[in-house]
Amino acid sequence: MEKRERFSSRLGFILISAGCAIGLGNVWRFPYITGQYGGAAFVLIYLLFLVILGLPIMIMEFSVGRASQKSAARSFHVLEPKGTKWHWQSWACMAGNYLLMMFYTTIGGWMLAYVFKMLSGEFEGLDAAGVEGVFNGMLGQPVYMTVWMIVVVLGSFFICSLGLQKGVERITKVMMSCLFLILLLLCVRSVTLPGAMEGIKFYLIPDFGKMVENGIGEAVFAAMGQSFFTLSLGIGAMAIFGSYISKDRSLTGESVSICVLDTTVALLSGLIIFPSCFAFGVDPGEGPGLVFITLPNVFNQMAGGRIFGALFFVFMFFAALSTIVAVFENIISFSLDLFGVTRKKAVAVNIIAIILLSMPCVLGFNLWSSFAPLGAGTTIQDLEDFIVSNNLLPLGSLVYLLFCTSRYGWGWKNFIAEADAGQGLKFPKWSRIYVTYVLPLIILFIFVMGYYQKFFQN
Ligand code: PHE
Repeated sequence: MEKRERFSSRLGFILISAGCAIGLGNVWRFPYITGQYGGAAFVLIYLLFLVILGLPIMIMEFSVGRASQKSAARSFHVLEPKGTKWHWQSWACMAGNYLLMMFYTTIGGWMLAYVFKMLSGEFEGLDAAGVEGVFNGMLGQPVYMTVWMIVVVLGSFFICSLGLQKGVERITKVMMSCLFLILLLLCVRSVTLPGAMEGIKFYLIPDFGKMVENGIGEAVFAAMGQSFFTLSLGIGAMAIFGSYISKDRSLTGESVSICVLDTTVALLSGLIIFPSCFAFGVDPGEGPGLVFITLPNVFNQMAGGRIFGALFFVFMFFAALSTIVAVFENIISFSLDLFGVTRKKAVAVNIIAIILLSMPCVLGFNLWSSFAPLGAGTTIQDLEDFIVSNNLLPLGSLVYLLFCTSRYGWGWKNFIAEADAGQGLKFPKWSRIYVTYVLPLIILFIFVMGYYQKFFQN
């Protein structure tokens, strides 16, 4: 078996974990959900969940990874008390990582395709209907979408094939630095547009009245789902990076840094999108089409829109790619941990697997579009997203949580010793009652409510 590699630096660890966390969830999902649930009031609930729900679970995942020195495929086997069945979770983790990639690669392909569409000026002179036509036209072309998806898959696996330090760490560092630069540039452009103020108000001044009208339960459920999704929690995707670091630093401190980076990018993405929507009179509550249908209209009207539009999609693409590379690193390490094969071989096999597994999502928009798994108008992508985001992430997070707090699992003492090893912020001891007894109930309650609302109301 190949020797297990480590990150070369602390910065590498933080940027790659942040790269895994910062993805479509920040730049695509967060803005459109915020638009749908009425802006600032939703943002507040979301921030609250990040702290009381996301942060402790991220610390637990890293602890499990670092203590076991394994990916999620083996970590529970190493740490669980003899005779227990916690390791069943490893199946959910592996399934979750693959399922996420089954639709993520397709959206990554759209982002890359849009960089070129923007650069080539394809949207220039089109009205709103025309811009929408471009997006729908793309969805109708399976071959076109497949090609872009394959480009993304090959590129990402190529990066992973270079190794942890020379590939994943080196390239993600560059990508994340560019991402932050472009983000700042676009923010300045957006908030200085004439008329941007209305958008800033919508985004930053809470209107709880509006939220109650739309159903507060639904908004709370969406905020919870989003906080798991954006931090990549519940399927061991983050845990793996804990297994690549030393015990020099306490995990609470590192997790806080990663959460802050992730949240900054989400909030600033909103600050790009909402002011520009309001400045050009475009509705931000459009839903998933927000960045592909709404925003090209905005860039069309903006001075220098072609360049800013292209930069915007480069930004989106980097966010998506850093996540894909991070999850592929997980997928590769499953093969390494389970079968002891070489990295090259794991890459080769998984390239084929991921391309094939990504096809249903691509075809779900065209040839297989008559299949509407979650009700009229829904696609295979919605189904995959639903299985991962609404089920595997919250329930998986619950398992990590119970594993770390219950004496039938790995247990509180082991968890705290691992989390607190090293310099930096320690896990607050007073929160033990909260994380052991209250947090699991919150997750369960909101999980059940989410189902109830999705399938039994309206
Ligand atoms: N956090 C990623 C995003 O925001 C998505 C993700 C979820 C990645 C779960 C890995 C695991 O896009």
